[in-house]
Amino acid sequence: MRLASFLALATAAAGISTANLPVVTRDVAILGGGATGTYAAVQLREQGKSVALIEKKPQLGGHAETLYLPDGQYINYGVEGYFNNELTKSFFAQLDVDYELLLPGSMLTKHVDFTTGKTALPASGILDAGTGAALYRAAIEQFDYLATGAYYLPDEVPEVLLRPFREFVDAHALWGALEIIFTFAENVGDLLERPLLYVIMNFGIPQIDALLQGEYIRPKNGTGELFDKAANYIDERNNILYSSSVISASRTESGVELVVEHSQTGKCTLIRARKLLIAHPPTLPSLTAQGFDLAREEKSLFSKWSHVNYYAAVVNATGLPDGFNIANTDPSNNPGHLPLPPFLWQLEYSGVPGYFMIKIVGPRNDDTFTAEAARELIVQNIRAMGQAGTFATTPGEMQIVAFASHTPETLTVDVDEIRNGFYKRLYALQGVRSTFYTGYTFCTDYSTPLWNYTGSVLEMMDS
Ligand SMILES: Cc1cc2nc3c(=O)[nH]c(=O)nc-3n(C[C@H](O)[C@H](O)[C@H](O)COP(=O)(O)OP(=O)(O)OC[C@H]3O[C@@H](n4cnc5c(N)ncnc54)[C@H](O)[C@@H]3O)c2cc1C
Ligand SMILES: *[C@@H]1O[C@H](CO)[C@@H](O)[C@H](O)[C@H]1NC(C)=O
Ligand SMILES: *[C@@H]1O[C@H](CO)[C@@H](O)[C@H](O)[C@H]1NC(C)=O
Ligand SMILES: *[C@@H]1O[C@H](CO)[C@@H](O)[C@H](O)[C@H]1NC(C)=O
Repeated sequence: MRLASFLALATAAAGISTANLPVVTRDVAILGGGATGTYAAVQLREQGKSVALIEKKPQLGGHAETLYLPDGQYINYGVEGYFNNELTKSFFAQLDVDYELLLPGSMLTKHVDFTTGKTALPASGILDAGTGAALYRAAIEQFDYLATGAYYLPDEVPEVLLRPFREFVDAHALWGALEIIFTFAENVGDLLERPLLYVIMNFGIPQIDALLQGEYIRPKNGTGELFDKAANYIDERNNILYSSSVISASRTESGVELVVEHSQTGKCTLIRARKLLIAHPPTLPSLTAQGFDLAREEKSLFSKWSHVNYYAAVVNATGLPDGFNIANTDPSNNPGHLPLPPFLWQLEYSGVPGYFMIKIVGPRNDDTFTAEAARELIVQNIRAMGQAGTFATTPGEMQIVAFASHTPETLTVDVDEIRNGFYKRLYALQGVRSTFYTGYTFCTDYSTPLWNYTGSVLEMMDS
């Protein structure tokens, strides 16, 4: 049977008639227009391949989100910076994006216990970022197979990687480095209790070397500029389906057929492609909602993720003093005085007077920590600082001027699964039924190593 007729039958079996749908034929269909899906689309176009990029939201960028203010200033309240290396710079050059060094909005930090609102003592012996990162780097250097950012683990996974991070901190006297580690890996949640592997995957050799060597860079006009220019390069009118999701999918070894629905108009398009790249977290609920014909192995693997609900916000008119970051500090959690989920990581001074950025981390696998709960926590924490007399806060006037959900974030599996070869099985899915994967479930959650990993996936597609 010819592929097309087989796929038509399969789609019909799913209860959707494809007979009268407009048909789009492409070399590669990409699901998700965040950092990785966008990068893939640009590189495939560069190679002369045709693409269809399907993005659920009305714009590209995913975790990269920029608030543009009326006076031309901007706040990157999602992704703030990219590694200052050849890969980032050549991607920026390809898109004609001007860049600058990323400088923090402020180097000054006040420590406050956000639950009481009172000034709190930071943990004693905190090392400066460079010294802390170098000390920690020396301790994790032995896991050199993780240095690309992918989960390329040995068959026998060293037990130390599966033990709580607390034990590694004690064994290597890393107490003074906890603040810098948490700055990068706050999204893992209860840092000391999480497996060492997941701490390294969020702050490992790639992130440290970028920090110590060339620092981080950002597009001169916000991360939004990168994605606007990428959309232009991809030819958005013809190749990007915004506000759209797959509602039915059939896949064989020779290609895929997807029915894609626009969320507002309900208009459907049939996409036929030789290859499919999934560039959003491949969770069971997400793929089931998209009508995927999952094989047993796919179901088995994708059902194992746990995640954190994670939000980011910008607030203004808080009454907090400009020019300081306010770090959430829990003096009862030792070592490190790090807050426990759910928490606001910091009130991070944005560099724009009056505006602070916030990252909000929920408890692992707790979907009751909704956007509403995160907003309430912001108000509660800032109010407590006023009530304690720490700052003259103005919760009544405060505005949450931007708010984004990044859920599901920090997808991980139980240590037993890792021990039993989860990641090997996961990578073995690459290419099965013309389907490939990229994004932060397959590689460390940082754009530059994700782009590098995505490049290697595009090579697999070709072979
Ligand atoms: C607040 C925050 C700050 C960060 N800061 C940095 C930083 O400074 N530097 C850095 O390098 N990294 C940072 N990161 C990590 C960041 O996640 C990665 O750098 C990178 O942006 C992830 O890209 P991705 O393509 O894997 O995923 P995403 O950016 O999440 O992209 C996935 C895309 O898929 C779309 N999607 C989801 N489901 C579907 C569906 N069913 N159909 C179609 N589309 C779908 C989503 O809308 C999204 O656009 C930060 C992350 C967060 C949350
Ligand atoms: C980029 O990816 C390739 C292929 O996986 C890998 O060999 C290389 O080491 C990676 N580069 C970096 C800097 O991680
Ligand atoms: C910066 O980007 C914003 C949003 O895309 C745009 O409105 C503005 O014109 C850009 N500014 C410059 C100087 O390019
Ligand atoms: C806060 O932000 C809102 C929305 O951008 C704006 O209308 C308001 O003027 C800002 N308030 C202050 C005090 O900057």
